[in-house]
Amino acid sequence: MTTSDVISKLKSEINCNISTEKSDLETYGTDWTREFNPDPLAVIFPKTIEDVKNIVSFANKNKVSLTPSGGRTGLSAGAVAKNGELVVSFEKMNKVLSFNKADRTLEVQAGITTKEIQDYAKEKGLFYPVDFSSAGSSQIGGNIATNAGGIRVIRYGLTRQWIKGLKVVTGKGDILELNKGLTKNATGYDLMNLFIGSEGTLGLIAEATIQLTTQPKDSSVILIGLKNIENSIKVLELFREKLTLNAFEFFSHSAVKHVVKKLERNIPVCDTLPYYLLVDIETPSDNEIEIASEIYTNAFETGLIEDGVISQNPSQYRELWSFRENITEAISVFLTYKNDISVRTSQIPDFINDISAILNNEYPDFDTILFGHIGDGNIHVSILKPHDFDKEKFLNLCRGVNTKIFETVAKYDGSISAEHGVGLIKKPYLTYTRSEAEIELMKGIKKVFDPNGIMNPGKIF
Ligand code: MLT
Ligand code: ZN
Repeated sequence: MTTSDVISKLKSEINCNISTEKSDLETYGTDWTREFNPDPLAVIFPKTIEDVKNIVSFANKNKVSLTPSGGRTGLSAGAVAKNGELVVSFEKMNKVLSFNKADRTLEVQAGITTKEIQDYAKEKGLFYPVDFSSAGSSQIGGNIATNAGGIRVIRYGLTRQWIKGLKVVTGKGDILELNKGLTKNATGYDLMNLFIGSEGTLGLIAEATIQLTTQPKDSSVILIGLKNIENSIKVLELFREKLTLNAFEFFSHSAVKHVVKKLERNIPVCDTLPYYLLVDIETPSDNEIEIASEIYTNAFETGLIEDGVISQNPSQYRELWSFRENITEAISVFLTYKNDISVRTSQIPDFINDISAILNNEYPDFDTILFGHIGDGNIHVSILKPHDFDKEKFLNLCRGVNTKIFETVAKYDGSISAEHGVGLIKKPYLTYTRSEAEIELMKGIKKVFDPNGIMNPGKIF
């Protein structure tokens, strides 16, 4: 069958919007990565789980591969369709299906955005704690498929912790209702959790039951300047010993100039220090603010920190956070090669020193930016392509240096992808974190759920 025969058949057999417009193929066939050229067969927009089932059944019968597409904010090319796949966009499956006040759960379709869930929870006097700068566009289905993390993991954990049930269509075409919102369910293998982080390789996530929680109390944030990274984890220990931390983030000096340029605002602490921390603490009363100030003053007097400022009101709170939240957008004017790596939190200072040494040796002429969630042991390493540098040459250089970076990750028994997933971009490096035996088992699991290999082929392994 020719491509146009498949498309005509698809249009006649499946009652969903289908687009083959060039601009749609380009938009829906990719994510925020810019390494691959999208080349999908078409884009299809299901509205219900039955539509999704029909699409999977069509794909199996006609040997068509499927690539799920959410908010397309992924950073590992997990949602890139570059080999004639049919892109399944969840854009039209964006509804809240039900809310249960007693269980504090929300049933949603996969295409609802993270922000819409956060807003809905707020309206109900509750809280959905998973948060990141792409929350306005990213969809819950994609968050689940990549087990998304973000800025509050230190307090609330990853997306996995907030999923109480999933309705999926497996690659084989079965609808599975997994866990059904239960808190306790000790009945064998946890298939729901297998789908979390599976990057669309086992089936399509159509609906989810989300756990909500109590709204956080008032919080304050402290922006801190450090002269060396060794002190970062000492600072974490000091604050965590006495206070509840919502976030413990960091960024390097090299990130500051880009954010300052974007925001057209100077950073309100000494701007020549190599590292900055953002410590977000719950401060429901003056007592916690006093404790935080005491810790801060002692740390300053003992030379642990060089400079800092604590937010005094909600607008200052947002302002201090903006220096961290705007990093990705500020550097997006460059083609950026990203790594998202993790170790145990206690190893962060040594790890950052080792990674910085590699970056300084290998990229003396490139702007290299470190930032991320060091309270979770997770750093993002971004290399910016100078505007006049050849793209392919730049990407090859970055891929070459990856070996050194990932050998260091492996030396620490760390992860080559902490929260961005594997997709196409990290696939060649999976063995730095997962053993051959683990990868074989993952392949075996995929075969059970997706015997014809139609689900997002080529991603993860
Ligand atoms: C972040 O923490 O801001 C995100 O993971 C995005 C990124 O790495 O660019
Ligand atoms: Zn991140």
